[in-house]
Amino acid sequence: MLILSIETSCDETAMALLNISQSKSKIQYRVLSESVASQIKLHRRYGGVVPNLASREHAKNFPIILKQTLKTSYPPISFKNLDLIAATIGPGLLPSLLIGVNGAKTLSWFLNKPLAGVNHLTGHLFSFLLNEEFQTSEGYSFDLSKQKDVFPAIGLIVSGGHTTLVKLSGFSKIKMLGETRDDAAGECLDKCARLLNLGYPGGPIIAKLAKNNPKITKVKFPRPMANSDNYDFSFSGLKTAVLYFVQSLTEQEKKELLPQMCYEIQEAVVDVLIIKALKAAREYSAKSLVLGGGVTANNRLREKIMLAAQREHLQLFLPPIKYATDNATIMALPAYLRYHKVSQKILINNWKKLDAKANITI
Ligand code: KG4
Ligand code: ZN
Repeated sequence: MLILSIETSCDETAMALLNISQSKSKIQYRVLSESVASQIKLHRRYGGVVPNLASREHAKNFPIILKQTLKTSYPPISFKNLDLIAATIGPGLLPSLLIGVNGAKTLSWFLNKPLAGVNHLTGHLFSFLLNEEFQTSEGYSFDLSKQKDVFPAIGLIVSGGHTTLVKLSGFSKIKMLGETRDDAAGECLDKCARLLNLGYPGGPIIAKLAKNNPKITKVKFPRPMANSDNYDFSFSGLKTAVLYFVQSLTEQEKKELLPQMCYEIQEAVVDVLIIKALKAAREYSAKSLVLGGGVTANNRLREKIMLAAQREHLQLFLPPIKYATDNATIMALPAYLRYHKVSQKILINNWKKLDAKANITI
């Protein structure tokens, strides 16, 4: 099945072409081409994503990225060979989503090709399938008998917009366990970085500065809701604690304590994520932990969760860093898993009714 996937939920205009097929024993997938136009430089000066500017950039980049994705495909493909067009319908910023969804609808109508809507969170959730452990000389292959080692799994999606914990009983059986009540983990890192005048996006900058810190630190920040008896998260209290602490410092102290603050912010976020994921893994007798989303690019999170998983005898599935942040390649996988058996007739007519939905959950 040749899939063109389109992702415009936030500040990346991304498209990819994947060939995905399935036999009784495995799913095989190959990335033929992938392109991303990032808007980080544009939004940096505002300290975060400005939705209307993002939308304008997506509109500008859409045809450019489409042309580039087709042009760089190996082997070359033509539009007429497409089996499915997949577009992220949400959650995300509505002005951004609308560009991708409307572009996909137009292509579907004009080319008379089936159209599938993808939930952005499922893209992050199944991004682990692109890990190099599944790589072959032909692309990637997931041995379906391996499902018994993976499921039930606890899935944790940690990005700039979401902190969502789910139970996965199979590729299409996803149950929401909890999510953030206020800021997402990545959003908290971005906001803390803004408080510290470090720029955008905050996650990678905080991670870099945290590295220079001796691991003993005088700075201590809270781990909000770490021990609450549910699976929800809350990160706004951490941001407020950082704000009050920064306000109590002289300029000199701010400079001196910067690496320690970054270290402790990162530790607080990582600790809460791991405590909650492990609690869920124990309660649901999970066999594995599955992580996805921009914050999983964080090396400290990767390092700490790897140790925790070993300790608890859980398998750990992470996306490669390249596929942690937003891209279209990861969106093609859930599109395939959900729609490869759905009637062409329904999907061909989908362009008439598919809509962007900013606030859907998983
Ligand atoms: O998944 P993503 O690209 O977009 C959303 O769906 O939101 O995630 C972006 C988030 C940002 O908040 C960014 O600060 C964070 O991921 N991020 C990181 C790292 N790289 C990106 N956070 C911590 N450490 C990183 N290395
Ligand atoms: Zn994302």
